[in-house]
Amino acid sequence: MKMKGILQRYGNMLPINPGTPLVSLGEGGTPLIPLESLGEELGLRLYAKYEGANPTGSFKDRGMVLAVAKALEAGAKGLVCASTGNTSASAAAYAARSGLPCTVLLPKGKVASGKLAQALIHGARVVSIRGNFDEALGLALALSREMGLAVVNSVNRYRLWGQRSVAWEMVDELGRSPDAVVLPVGNAGNITAGWAGFVQYRRAGKADSIPAMIGVQAEGAAPLAFGKPCPAPETVATAIRIGRPVNGKKASWAVRMSGGKFLAVSDEEILGAQRRLAADEGVFAEPASCAGIASLLRYAGQGLIPRGSMVVAVLTGNGLKDPDTAAAGAGAPLEIDAEAGALREALS
Ligand code: F0G
Repeated sequence: MKMKGILQRYGNMLPINPGTPLVSLGEGGTPLIPLESLGEELGLRLYAKYEGANPTGSFKDRGMVLAVAKALEAGAKGLVCASTGNTSASAAAYAARSGLPCTVLLPKGKVASGKLAQALIHGARVVSIRGNFDEALGLALALSREMGLAVVNSVNRYRLWGQRSVAWEMVDELGRSPDAVVLPVGNAGNITAGWAGFVQYRRAGKADSIPAMIGVQAEGAAPLAFGKPCPAPETVATAIRIGRPVNGKKASWAVRMSGGKFLAVSDEEILGAQRRLAADEGVFAEPASCAGIASLLRYAGQGLIPRGSMVVAVLTGNGLKDPDTAAAGAGAPLEIDAEAGALREALS
């Protein structure tokens, strides 16, 4: 049996050649889930692109598979990345699969427990940095130059190219481009990649239009939404706790060209959106992923998007990545003795 991941399914859209090893964990092909209850409330034809269904539980796998394939092709000695968690989980998994050593730099105490567990169990060398993501990325770039390692952050063009595939899948499944795409923004790679994916598909005659790209940040880490640097980023959505997005310029261009915008939402709104998605739609996504839905709940009624539009919210990471935040806001189970009477009473 042959795995069918991004390189196999979209090889003709990607910069691969006969010498590129076709690495795969079966990434991509994630569910596009109609959000009927939320969509009706907001007056939108609303879908979630559930990226939590990727092999390591986030959208990062789409780009990591190509970045690792190209690193192998170039004979790299190993991989390095800084990460708020998901990139490190993905890098560690694809490195393990490919037999490459992997070093990951994480901001100490600010990485969700599931992601840290992934990096460790896949055998990456995990270094906890007493600092934030922006500082960790500076160190990772310097280390890569010193040691000849391939950087697999979104400064790696292959990462971003592979991530274009989320746009291709949307068009292939919907039969057209959506009118708008909402997604969370941290280092601003994914929104840039998504836009480039629609542009490439239109050039290839496979898409008719480019959706408005709407990038959403957490208020405590919103350099692009507020248009000024954020030296001390802070948010419950640790995946997007980033103050100096390396792809900020490219993302601003993409958002402007698409007729979209950057928005900011509060941590309370992010957690509220997470609970709504889980309780009303049966979809569990990590906090950062829910920033897009939070922005629709706050701004859809204020003319952000015309009523009746087709909108896709990219839910970038699986809810199981950050069980602690979810459990803290979801209440505790009932506890009883093992007796039928006690059970009846507890449930009455
Ligand atoms: N959502 C999730 C779940 C993420 O993990 C990230 C980024 C983003 C959204 C934002 O994407 O950076 O391309 O704008 N996580 C990176 C990491 C920074 O290290 O895992 P972006």
